[in-house]
Amino acid sequence: MESLRIYTEKPYQLRGQVTISGAKNAVLPALAATLLTSGEIALSNIPLVKDVQTMLTLLSELGAEYELKKKSLRIRVEKIASERAPYQLVRAMRASILVLGPLLARKGKAAVALPGGCAIGTRPVDLHINGLQKLGADIKIEHGYILAKAKKLKGAEFEFEKKTVTGTENLVMAAALARGETILKNCALEPEVSSLCELLVKMGAKIEGIGEETIRIRGVEELGPAAFRIIPDRIEAGTFMVAAALTQGDLIINEVEPAHLGALIDKLMISGARIEKISKRSLRVIGSQEIKPQDVTTAPYPGFPTDMQAQFMVLMTQADGTSIITETIFDRRFAHANELIRLGASIEIQGDKAIIRGRTPLSGAEVMATDLRASASLVLAGLVASGQTTINDIEHLDRGYEKIEDKLIKLGVKIERLKNNNNHRAGDKK
Ligand code: UD1
Repeated sequence: MESLRIYTEKPYQLRGQVTISGAKNAVLPALAATLLTSGEIALSNIPLVKDVQTMLTLLSELGAEYELKKKSLRIRVEKIASERAPYQLVRAMRASILVLGPLLARKGKAAVALPGGCAIGTRPVDLHINGLQKLGADIKIEHGYILAKAKKLKGAEFEFEKKTVTGTENLVMAAALARGETILKNCALEPEVSSLCELLVKMGAKIEGIGEETIRIRGVEELGPAAFRIIPDRIEAGTFMVAAALTQGDLIINEVEPAHLGALIDKLMISGARIEKISKRSLRVIGSQEIKPQDVTTAPYPGFPTDMQAQFMVLMTQADGTSIITETIFDRRFAHANELIRLGASIEIQGDKAIIRGRTPLSGAEVMATDLRASASLVLAGLVASGQTTINDIEHLDRGYEKIEDKLIKLGVKIERLKNNNNHRAGDKK
């Protein structure tokens, strides 16, 4: 178990430049898509995060050979060696479910462990299963595994009852090799879904309606090699934008796609931050001394992302007044609130709403990270909490943020990584 400790002797004002890594949620489906072809796929701008390692371990078990040099990956699945995604890996990373569609489409069978419960509420995969059944797959659940078979998937029309990101991705990948045309309705609009579709098109897939709610896929016999760059991580970018607003800082955030951050930019600007687009891929965020309270409701893209909810809550603890955050995507996604309360925040949870009464000074304490974005919110809180904040169980953070402490150290933050909960110094404490 590792921890991160932040030392805040006087309030930080983050200044400088930070470069955003490739998107975790874009690289994971791109990696799963490599199962669809025996050709080599070259991916660049790979974020070096734990989830990528987990997906590469899973793909190796399924037959992939790869070479990762810095942030460039060459990967090839000449033959599918196994069609089983074991529970230990799926439990570590729910996005392992993304191999279900590709395995079924290329190999005709798949055995993928059911993800089960997780820290942010129940997250079913029924829509993935219903959609694949509509394409002709025979699916049963046995001994905790989804067992799927289909000689050849057949194109069909399927409407998602609810928008699902990985569900849409699984279905698009499966349909790419199905016989005939598939029409998917009520698809998730997240940029990571479009980015996957663009990779598939480079591999030879026939897809229309990329970025729209209805996607049409004409199945092809086979897909081939391609080279593709992973899009910037809008959630990592958003986390640093909130950090700038929270600390009255002045940050230049490089390698972002501003168009993917519309809902967050709007909320940050109304709350008082100044945001300037300084080039096609750079934003400058200048925090204000007075933070205005904001009501926020999470929603599927282009709405306010649930993956930014925890970080925005920290900002609202420092706003002058009361804010209400409504979480509509996942139930029980407020575990960070209890930890923020330990730091001195005034937050009341009422069902799917968090009522945050600001402004409350925060004071450092030991807190526990419960999931990926909750961990990021605690790091942000540590920047404004006086004294020492120690965030335990930091491995959640490593799943999705590349070298977050190195990036913060460059911005002037005193932060170090502690191993095994003792005081062994691993990070550079400046
Ligand atoms: C993806 C993201 C995650 C983000 C989430 C919502 C990846 C790897 N992860 O997760 O970071 O928080 O989108 O933006 O891209 N649902 C069902 N049945 C299903 C599938 C989903 O009811 O079969 C529900 C979920 O419980 C949830 C909603 O649909 O309420 C959206 O979930 P979904 O978009 O599927 O999330 P993920 O793809 O798992």
